[in-house]
Amino acid sequence: MTQRRPLVAANWKMNGSLASIRPLLKGICSGLQAKCDAEVVICPPYVYLAELTDKLGNSGIISGAQNLSHLESGAFTGEISADMLKDFSCKYVIVGHSERRALYGETDGLVAAKFMRGQDAALVPILCVGEQLAERESGDTEVVIERQLNAVIELAGIKAFNDAVIAYEPVWAIGTGETATPDQAQEVHAFVRLLLARHDDAVADKIRILYGGSVKAANAVEIFNMVDVDGGLIGGAALDADEFLSICHAARGS
Ligand code: PGA
Repeated sequence: MTQRRPLVAANWKMNGSLASIRPLLKGICSGLQAKCDAEVVICPPYVYLAELTDKLGNSGIISGAQNLSHLESGAFTGEISADMLKDFSCKYVIVGHSERRALYGETDGLVAAKFMRGQDAALVPILCVGEQLAERESGDTEVVIERQLNAVIELAGIKAFNDAVIAYEPVWAIGTGETATPDQAQEVHAFVRLLLARHDDAVADKIRILYGGSVKAANAVEIFNMVDVDGGLIGGAALDADEFLSICHAARGS
């Protein structure tokens, strides 16, 4: 089995100000221990990427973005391109977050196009998948995850997942304080890996699958201990330096 280095990514969403992110970044950079096994990524609002890159210095923490356009450039008011993100040293980009799908009408097809555009520009997509509460309750969790993943596999091909990360984020657990139990997370993570393995065993074995949805210092260890959980995508808890650092240090290499 491949050794998968854990990854912990902060998704700041539309939070923060210059005044608040400066001490937050200072706290995170100074508190991150050298023996932290995890690769640590921060995805701020676009306008703070320059500040982030500047303040991260040689901390080893990596910059990411929360979204990108599926188009290269042109008359698309308000959009941000993959190449612009590269200009600000971004390595990762979140695609298909459930808030983008639900609030901004992002379809499986558009998410797949964003995934490909990111990869074409040498960004590593963090592809979010996850079911709504009603879908879980009607027993459709696997159907939804399979549909979301297949859209990307069909457009980008299975080998594209060699340079990608998947985040399983049950929508009912995002920002609600309600976390999936470690067993619930493991069950879906194992399903995602199985689904990829139907196309390519090596890709399935290598890919990192993060869990997201109300992860905090108090529950990170038990979730990260599950065999198919390779780290987390952290929202609210990433806005507090101590909380986020505890989560980073909870992620252990296998
Ligand atoms: P949360 O958000 O940790 O606040 O639940 C996670 C996410 O939406 O990525």
